[in-house]
Amino acid sequence: MQIRFSDSLPDRGVRVIPVRGGAASGAIADLGADAAAALRAQRFEGESGATADLYPAGKRVLAIGIGDKATGEAAEKLGGAVVAKLLTSGESEAAIELSDSGFDAEDSARVALAAALRAWRHDRYRTKLKDKQKPSLATVTIVGAPAGAAKLYEERYAPLVAGVELTRELVAEPPNIIYPESFAKRVRESVEGTGLKVRVLGQAEMTALGMGALLGVAQGSVREPQLLVLEWNGGADGTPPIALVGKGVTFDTGGISIKPAAGMESMKWDMGGAGAVAGAMKAIAGRKAKANVVGICGLVENMPDGNAQRPGDVVTTMDGQTVEVINTDAEGRLVLADAITWVQREYKPRVIVDLATLTGAMVIALGHEYAGIFSNDDDLALQLIGAGDATGDKLWRQPLGDAYDRLIDSPIADMKNVGPREGGSITAAQFIKRFVGDGVKWAHLDIAGMAWSDKDCPTWAKGATGYGVRLLDRFVEDVAEG
Ligand code: BES
Ligand code: MN
Ligand code: ZN
Repeated sequence: MQIRFSDSLPDRGVRVIPVRGGAASGAIADLGADAAAALRAQRFEGESGATADLYPAGKRVLAIGIGDKATGEAAEKLGGAVVAKLLTSGESEAAIELSDSGFDAEDSARVALAAALRAWRHDRYRTKLKDKQKPSLATVTIVGAPAGAAKLYEERYAPLVAGVELTRELVAEPPNIIYPESFAKRVRESVEGTGLKVRVLGQAEMTALGMGALLGVAQGSVREPQLLVLEWNGGADGTPPIALVGKGVTFDTGGISIKPAAGMESMKWDMGGAGAVAGAMKAIAGRKAKANVVGICGLVENMPDGNAQRPGDVVTTMDGQTVEVINTDAEGRLVLADAITWVQREYKPRVIVDLATLTGAMVIALGHEYAGIFSNDDDLALQLIGAGDATGDKLWRQPLGDAYDRLIDSPIADMKNVGPREGGSITAAQFIKRFVGDGVKWAHLDIAGMAWSDKDCPTWAKGATGYGVRLLDRFVEDVAEG
């Protein structure tokens, strides 16, 4: 779907009139007394996101509530609601009139951003869709936005949309299509021409590096593991980069500690952290961010097999620490341990942010509204939480501490890969922390409840959300480009 900006109303397509706080706006009044009556008949009171159809003189007009306050959130609700309503309506064009909306340039650009994000669908495998189930809306025109909105959208948000779309595609694709090698290939093709440097380490290189934890997870799968590295050098030469590290388990059966059958198909999106890192890197490069950022995706498939790792195995990580694998389903932390060691050796980053669909316990704690953030640095935590509030990818801080850390000591190795059931997300974070070097600022985001949604929201239809891309893009802008 295409986004355009214009100063005048196009003569084709649905006219969309935002209505603030119930007050029938000038534009509605201009349509005549029947229009106001039609709104009343549909119990339309201008609540944010509420819609009502009007047909003055046989032309379709959509009235849409925008609530009382002109906020970024209200702007996104507007853009998203318009597309949700019209995407498969048969209409091919819509024009959203922002002249009297009260939205500033930034909010107006966010109307467009939300419209573009809400239009994404994954229909690739639906060969029998009826015409009326297919998207018809091809163009949304933003009319009368304050000066600067169009430029802001083009430069700042269009690349972000492309990043979110990449993440969603990777997350939504089935696990027979997206496995470690095809993930890396898909990303490589998708970022071609952006200026990102792409490197992929295969099994032989990781074996030579001694990545025993990551390789232990991968050894039950016929799919070769990959470490995908995306490098963006838009900042000053020699400035140490921000490192973004993603868990990319392209399918998590649990391994020998196998998961129950019911719902296991959802573990195709256990690569949501790596997907967010890939999408964020594409967005960051797409808008030519003045920052040095490196993205690492630890890609493996976790399968049960004659060659799979066993509960009780002891593996040696790349940094020489040993791990007793109590539960082969606690695999994400094993992948992240070696990916984080590698990025520190190779890039000496000043900050590491890892993202992972790491624990079911995180979903129990926070549901689907916030991802959990664990950090060894208060400023970093606040910066990330701030970026989350600004973009809607919300974060809630969780604790770390020595008493939790002791829970993963092992009698046979340096540590075990699981603690007790209680505090399961925290002991998982403590495990990762053991691989972060002294003086490195680090945050771990447990996004288990956020990568996939069972319900529609303003900026996505149910399915892959693209969580983390907007957050990371904004975080990089805030801290590295100032
Ligand atoms: N990928 C799962 C976590 C997960 C569960 C993500 C549900 C999204 C929804 C992870 O690898 C896992 O299996 N974690 C275990 C850890 C346990 C064995 C300590 C869990 O949370 O049950
Ligand atoms: Mn698992
Ligand atoms: Zn997992």
